[in-house]
Amino acid sequence: MSYLNRKENMGRRIHVHRVPAAIAIILLTLIIVYFVNFNQDERPAVYGLLRNQNKVNLRKLLIGAIQAAQRGGIEVLEVAQTRDLKERSKGKTDEGANDPFTDADGRSHCVMKEGLHRIFPRIKIFSEEDKESCSNVNTFDLDPTVLHETADLPNVLVDIDEVTVWIDPLDATQEFTEKLYQYVTTMVCVAVKGKPIIGVIHSPFIGQTAWAWVDHSMSEYLALIHPLNPDTTKPLITVSRSHAGSVKELIKDVFGENSEIITAAGAGYKVLQVISNNATAYLHSTKIKKWDICAGDAILRALGGAMTNLNDEFINYGPEGSPVNEQGLLATLKTHDEYIDKLMQFRKNHVVSGHR
Ligand SMILES: *[C@@H]1O[C@H](CO)[C@@H](O)[C@H](O)[C@H]1NC(C)=O
Repeated sequence: MSYLNRKENMGRRIHVHRVPAAIAIILLTLIIVYFVNFNQDERPAVYGLLRNQNKVNLRKLLIGAIQAAQRGGIEVLEVAQTRDLKERSKGKTDEGANDPFTDADGRSHCVMKEGLHRIFPRIKIFSEEDKESCSNVNTFDLDPTVLHETADLPNVLVDIDEVTVWIDPLDATQEFTEKLYQYVTTMVCVAVKGKPIIGVIHSPFIGQTAWAWVDHSMSEYLALIHPLNPDTTKPLITVSRSHAGSVKELIKDVFGENSEIITAAGAGYKVLQVISNNATAYLHSTKIKKWDICAGDAILRALGGAMTNLNDEFINYGPEGSPVNEQGLLATLKTHDEYIDKLMQFRKNHVVSGHR
C-alpha cells in the first residue's frame, strides 16, 4: 500500500463517521436547549401532556382577558358607528325595565368568548349572551404588549377545573341605545375556586382599560384614578338609574338625609366611580347577574376594598349554582363594615317592626 493510498483511506473514514456524529450532537443540543429554555407551559404538547395537562397560567389568562375586553370594545364601537344597532328586546328585567339586545352585544360576545375559547379550550366560560350562535368570528393571539412595561407578572399555574371566566360583552345596553356611551363597558373576570382573582373593565368610548390581578399587579389607568386617601366622611352612594326608586328611600332611611345619591348606569361604571372616590359606595338592593359584578369585585379586592351581598357574604363565582346573585350588593373601597352594619341593622329593625 502506498503512502498516498493510506492517506486517502484515512480521509474517507473520517469523512464517513464525523458527519452523522456532528448532526446527532447538533440535534441533541437543540432538543436540550428547547426543553431547558422554555417556560413549562410553552413546552411542546407532548411534554405538556406529561406535566401540566390540567393547568392554566394566570399570567396568560390575564393577557387574554384584557385582549378579549378590548376586542369586544372594538365591536361595540363599530356597531355604534354604523348607527344600525338592530335593537330588539330580551323581555323585561325584574324591575320592569326593558332588557334590550343589540348587534353590539352579539358581536362583542362572539369575539370575546370564541377568542378566549380558542386559546384556552378547556376553561369554563360564562357570558351574558351565551344563547347567541357565532360564525366567522375574528380571533386573536396572545399579545403581552397589552401589559405596561413595568407590570410585574409571574407565571402562576392553577388547575383548569378550578377556573371560571365570566364575560359581560356589553354592560349598560339600554344606555348604549340612548347614546349615553360613558356608561358602557366590556368586562372579563377570572375566578379561581369561586373567588374573583382577575378583573378587567374596559370603557370602549373613553378608551380606558382598568384591570387588576389580586396580590400581583394593576393597570396604569387604575393606579391613576385610585386616590391614596379617599375622603369617606360623607356618604356618596351610587345606584342604578333604571331602578333607583326604592333604593333611594332605603339610603335616606339608613344613612340619613345628609347622604348623596348618584344615579348611574352599568355595574362596571359604578365600580369605577367607587374606585375613583366619585362615590363612597355602590348599593344595589335587588338581584344582579354575576357577569355584571365579578370584574369589579376582583378590582376592588386588589385595591383593598370589598364587595358583598347585603347579608355581608362574599359572592361565589364558581361554576356550580345560579349565575344570579340574589341578595343585593354593597361595594366600597373603605369602611365596608360601617356601611353594611347600618344596612343590616336597619333591615333587621324593619323586619321586626313589620311584624308588629
Ligand atoms: C369622577 O368625576 C370627575 C368629575 O365629575 C370626572 O371627571 C371623572 O371622569 C370621574 N371619574 C371616573 C372614573 O369616571
